[in-house]
Amino acid sequence: MAKLGVGVLGVGEMGKRHAENLRRLVPEARLVAVTDVAANRARQIAAELEIEKSFRSLDEMLDCKEIDAVLIATPDKFHAKGIETAANAGKNILCEKPLATTRADAQRALDAVEKAGVRLQIGFMRRYDPAYAAAMKRVEAGEIGEPVIFKSVGRDKDVPPLSAYQSNINGMLFYNNTIHDFDLARWLMRDEVTDVHAYTTVAIRPEVAHYGDVVASVVNLKYARGAIGNVESYVQAIYGYDVRTEIVGSKGSIFVGSIEKTPATFVSAAGSTGILADHFLSRFADAYLFEVRDFVRNMLHDLPPRVTAEDGMRALEIAIAAEESHKQGSPCKVESESHASRVA
Ligand SMILES: NC(=O)c1ccc[n+]([C@@H]2O[C@H](COP(=O)([O-])OP(=O)(O)OC[C@H]3O[C@@H](n4cnc5c(N)ncnc54)[C@H](O)[C@@H]3O)[C@@H](O)[C@H]2O)c1
Repeated sequence: MAKLGVGVLGVGEMGKRHAENLRRLVPEARLVAVTDVAANRARQIAAELEIEKSFRSLDEMLDCKEIDAVLIATPDKFHAKGIETAANAGKNILCEKPLATTRADAQRALDAVEKAGVRLQIGFMRRYDPAYAAAMKRVEAGEIGEPVIFKSVGRDKDVPPLSAYQSNINGMLFYNNTIHDFDLARWLMRDEVTDVHAYTTVAIRPEVAHYGDVVASVVNLKYARGAIGNVESYVQAIYGYDVRTEIVGSKGSIFVGSIEKTPATFVSAAGSTGILADHFLSRFADAYLFEVRDFVRNMLHDLPPRVTAEDGMRALEIAIAAEESHKQGSPCKVESESHASRVA
């Protein structure tokens, strides 16, 4: 069987899961090497996954002839540079979200991809989640008629340590978290967002504002064909990892997601208890696996990725407009570049 040789760049929490999936659960892939600026971490993950090669830099990994594709899971601000370097070496790429944290970085990355003629997939893995995928099938089949309202909630569980803000290597809330919902907002509604109005708060943790970030936000959306939407993000929900979405249409509605990890409710004289989802790695375990499998199969068969560079750019443009709206305290237009549509 032909196998796709893959190298993983950045093997922290997310990159490690991707590397595990590639090594153990994707028969058409061969995990060739892992790379991390923390060389010890790369060595340790390589040992755990029983592969020989680990590196400290992408350039070193790209010297490996067996590598056909690179999976990028470094912090947000290093994505664009990683894409540029991997593309210049002629490798196909699966990059975690967001594509970049600035339009200029995103554009440079996409230019490199286009010039090299390689393929780029962005890690919007919710599209691979069975519940979201089933919802999309019904939208596409016209079962809810014309979508009218989009609503999405994304709440992380634990209070992020202040060091996560201080390090300044990830994008603020809209780029790091809400971007998943901005992607769903386009994908499930099959339309483009034209205007956003963001409300944000740091009321329960004012020190977060020193790092240009916020604790929670709601962003109202307006769509090109007239629909409307609302997206809420919150980084410290405490009770669990809570991701839910509604698509309200002219003939029916779809509700995706549940707060419960297991679809069972336990009741007794003491009341009811359920086991709540607590982390993205468990809630979206299938989605991460299906995402990587689909990428590997498409690259092996020289097919375009299912989640494109354009998807990465459009979601980034909504995040940029949301940040602008947050800063100005007024609604903002989503400025769109036509360039991304040329890259598949
Ligand atoms: N799709 C999702 O649901 C999802 C979930 C979590 C994280 N992410 C994304 O994955 C990326 C990584 O997040 P994480 O939670 O694993 O972070 P992390 O901090 O746990 O891991 C990042 C790793 O990258 C390494 N690193 C930093 N700079 C590097 C560089 N220039 N070259 C090579 N390695 C480098 C670090 O040493 C670390 O091991 C982020 O962009 C994040 O937004 C996506």
